[in-house]
Amino acid sequence: MSIYLDHAATTPMSPAAIEAMTAQLVKVGNPSSLHSDGRSTRKDLEGSRDHIATAIGSHSREIIFFFFFTEANNTALKVLFWKGRASGRNLVVISAIEHHAILDPALWLAEHDGAELVILGVDANGVIRTEELVDLLSSRGDEVAVISVMAANNETGVLQPIRAIVELAKHYGIPVRSDAVQCFTKSPLSFSDLGLTAMTLSAHKIGGPLGIGVLVLQAGFDIPALLHGGGQERDIRSGTFNAPSIVAFAIAANESMNDFDLRNERVGRLRDHFATEIVEKVPDAYVNGAGADRIPGIVSVTFPGTESDTLLLLLDAQGISCSTGSACSAGVQRPSHVLLAMGHDDRSARSTLRFSLGATTTRDEIESTLEILPKVIESARLANLR
Ligand SMILES: Cc1ncc(COP(=O)(O)O)c(C=O)c1O
Repeated sequence: MSIYLDHAATTPMSPAAIEAMTAQLVKVGNPSSLHSDGRSTRKDLEGSRDHIATAIGSHSREIIFFFFFTEANNTALKVLFWKGRASGRNLVVISAIEHHAILDPALWLAEHDGAELVILGVDANGVIRTEELVDLLSSRGDEVAVISVMAANNETGVLQPIRAIVELAKHYGIPVRSDAVQCFTKSPLSFSDLGLTAMTLSAHKIGGPLGIGVLVLQAGFDIPALLHGGGQERDIRSGTFNAPSIVAFAIAANESMNDFDLRNERVGRLRDHFATEIVEKVPDAYVNGAGADRIPGIVSVTFPGTESDTLLLLLDAQGISCSTGSACSAGVQRPSHVLLAMGHDDRSARSTLRFSLGATTTRDEIESTLEILPKVIESARLANLR
């Protein structure tokens, strides 16, 4: 038996995306070449750009392809900071629950590049405290170079007040960037409606391939390049396009948007059923962020009296894949900074598992997990008592 409940880490590729990618792999032609092979690949690529732009509510020219999501994230944060600093702004504002792909470049800017870093706290449900931003901006608004806040948290699924943050920033002319990787196709999201300056997305969280990330960057808001070369992508991200992954990303985005309502309702119902049952079946278990709006697929549950690393291995032995937090920091013996920011202590943060459901998750898989998980918790607790 194999039950995959780690869709927030990466999703299985959809059959249609695999088919599109395979077809593109056998095509020859660099999209920057002027001959007909090149022009044909360019046509596929630009068609894909249009589809992704439609899915995210942006203009096609605002889509900039990167190889990795982390690369797009790092570039956006650093370059927006440098642009702000050039006009005398030195503050970088992020939230305490950002993924390491933002947290670490922000810390790097502070440690190595003279930025002053302000980290906004969250409430007990894991929602960013906008009142802290109001206070900061009222005294130092004209010093802020960039604000970077995620749209939905990858450990709890909790949706963040992006619209309110953009509104606040607007009065001080501050660009806002958002890591929307967990939110894209899971909750309504429109780049232009939100008024963001930049947003980052990834294909492998929505049934697309690994190795392709997107920076959505407001048209006219040009930023300097980190890599120099062929001048592709508004001269911001040089390098030959990864056409097979881009084409497959567009197919996955299309599919996910086409069944947006049905899939999200179904996944949300499964998640709610799982959460309700597990809290009932396992004494003292509780769901993190239960009082906030969340994307449908993620549920973070704390099981006091257990060690999540041990639980993970016990569940793995039963064929169930889940996570202790974000996959990128899993395996490192550190309590989750997200849960600590929400008020957990080291111990309870280390007793928490993230289950993430996706398009391929079935009711049977959830029922089997509900059978196995309480037994695993019980034996882990007994072992801890010995
Ligand atoms: C919210 C969030 N941001 C960034 C990342 C990093 O993405 P990648 O490892 O694909 O570069 C992840 C991956 O789990 C994530 O969940």
